[in-house]
Amino acid sequence: MKTINENKIIFVGGKGGVGKSTSSAALAVTLAEEGNQTLVVSTDPAHNLGDIFHTSLSHEKTNLMKNLWGIEIDPHHESKRYIEGVKDNLEGLVKTKMVEEVHRQIDMASASPGADEAALFDRLISIILEEGNQFDKIVFDTAPTGHTIRLLTLPELMGVWMDGMLERRKTMNNNYTQLLNDGEPVDDPIYDVLQKRREKFSAVREIILDPEQTGFAFVLIPERLPILETQKAVRQLQQHNLHVKTLIVNKVLPSHADGAFLEKRRKQEKVYLDEIENLFKEQRLVNVPLFEEDIADKDQLKIFSQHFKSLVSVQK
Ligand SMILES: Nc1ncnc2c1ncn2[C@@H]1O[C@H](COP(=O)(O)OP(=O)(O)OP(=O)(O)O)[C@@H](O)[C@H]1O
Ligand SMILES: [Mg+2]
Repeated sequence: MKTINENKIIFVGGKGGVGKSTSSAALAVTLAEEGNQTLVVSTDPAHNLGDIFHTSLSHEKTNLMKNLWGIEIDPHHESKRYIEGVKDNLEGLVKTKMVEEVHRQIDMASASPGADEAALFDRLISIILEEGNQFDKIVFDTAPTGHTIRLLTLPELMGVWMDGMLERRKTMNNNYTQLLNDGEPVDDPIYDVLQKRREKFSAVREIILDPEQTGFAFVLIPERLPILETQKAVRQLQQHNLHVKTLIVNKVLPSHADGAFLEKRRKQEKVYLDEIENLFKEQRLVNVPLFEEDIADKDQLKIFSQHFKSLVSVQK
């Protein structure tokens, strides 16, 4: 199995607040500094990737520094754009008097739970398929654990779901021609759209499942609950044949932090650090110290990034 620095696509996951965005940014900066054309993408609806670079990011790529570009996927915007696209696709295909009803149905579907998530996933797919050719590395800063796992297992679920839809469309197609082109028999455009999506999903699924191309890193802090949650997440992903190879153990008390209080905490922390080593023998562990202050600008990020060098520098 390749190490994460050899992967083209890297997903960074973990519990809320453990340092996913900071670590994704640091990893991306380190990769860019090594000369890789790098894209860092936030898929977390509560974005803070832009803040770290003191820039506002959007759904289009923005240059952040030499070799580094950033995108924040806005699920709501994507969902709106997607719905508009669907409506445009149907233009001219649906009987004039049906247009209003069809649009009403589409609007209803777009307000249903999961619509934003599906649209976000759609954008993620197009980034992997389209930007994959232009960039050496794509780092995904994901939302807290549960959400990420859902997102990553979506191609599989969507695949099954879409096979069902395709089957149903096939049988429906005969009745359907009545509705289209004022009764003239036509190919089912919805079937074609679904078929195309199905193909895109399979292509992305193959990339995500290929350990040569895609790597997963989890960030955790040396405390009881994050350890448990990481263990659970690693297992869950494993069930879907996704293997987490790297753990970033963040906010480890530095040895120079002094005082009786910190001494006591460090003792407790040692128990958790040992536990992490015992539990995650399959993963490469990288410890990152707790800094005196938040990582709030590019300079601090560069210092923070030093700890990611060992992860990125060649150990082929
Ligand atoms: N090693 C560290 N030392 C000091 N501060 C840190 C360290 N790592 C992260 N932080 C700070 O902790 C806070 C949370 O980090 P970050 O936003 O990267 O977490 P996250 O996992 O992306 O959170 P969310 O789940 O909310 O997206 C930020 O203010 C960040 O600057
Ligand atoms: Mg974040």
